[in-house]
Amino acid sequence: MPHVAVVLAAVVTEGVMVAPAWDSANGVFVGNKAATGDSELLSPLWIFGYGSLVWRPEPGWEAFRAARGSVDGWSRWFAQRSMDHRGTPQAPGLVCTLLPDCSLDTLGARGDRDKPSTTLGVAYLIPDDHRDDVLANLDFREKGGYTRAIADVRLEGAEDGASIRALVYSATIDNPNFVPRFVTDDPAALDEAAAIIATTRGPSGPNNEYLYKLADAIPDDPYLKALEARVRERALA
Ligand code: SIN
Repeated sequence: MPHVAVVLAAVVTEGVMVAPAWDSANGVFVGNKAATGDSELLSPLWIFGYGSLVWRPEPGWEAFRAARGSVDGWSRWFAQRSMDHRGTPQAPGLVCTLLPDCSLDTLGARGDRDKPSTTLGVAYLIPDDHRDDVLANLDFREKGGYTRAIADVRLEGAEDGASIRALVYSATIDNPNFVPRFVTDDPAALDEAAAIIATTRGPSGPNNEYLYKLADAIPDDPYLKALEARVRERALA
């Protein structure tokens, strides 16, 4: 009953966070927004991109300060179904999420790794007079199951490993588009993910373009390399 779902989503605002209603036909949350979660309102506002934000920031961001950086304790996975950007509800694509190590523990997906994860991306410093517009646009862009979170980012070249706090859009493990079996380096799962990425496309373009551009921008990530090689093999076959 979509009517009831919309009413429920609208009642939440009195300070209490309740999960927004899910529209399974279109693969988005009702209201078409990322969830704001319990993230702080950072000032200054840095945003850390690890997926499409690495190679396709919002128009106008080229004027903002941008710096490569990494987040410790988080890892990037092609484990988020995309029905509104790189796939369709009939044939969902796969895009990235960034998960904290505690989520990997919950999934039993840490394997025998004993060190914290670390992930490279790009941090953008959003000028104060752009922050409202930027957040409104990103909440819309990341609407397929992402939630705002905060991560510590070590900027490349920063002295003494100093870090900044940045907002990150993370598709959490409890969102309906999340696919837990893709949180692994296991070759069979990589093959399965590659088969999806090689063959799907959505309103934003082919799914493989998302991966190729990300792997180009972050050439030193072994997971991205392994996935890209598998997708390229399929393109040649
Ligand atoms: C990001 O790039 O930081 C968020 C995930 C995406 O839009 O690909």
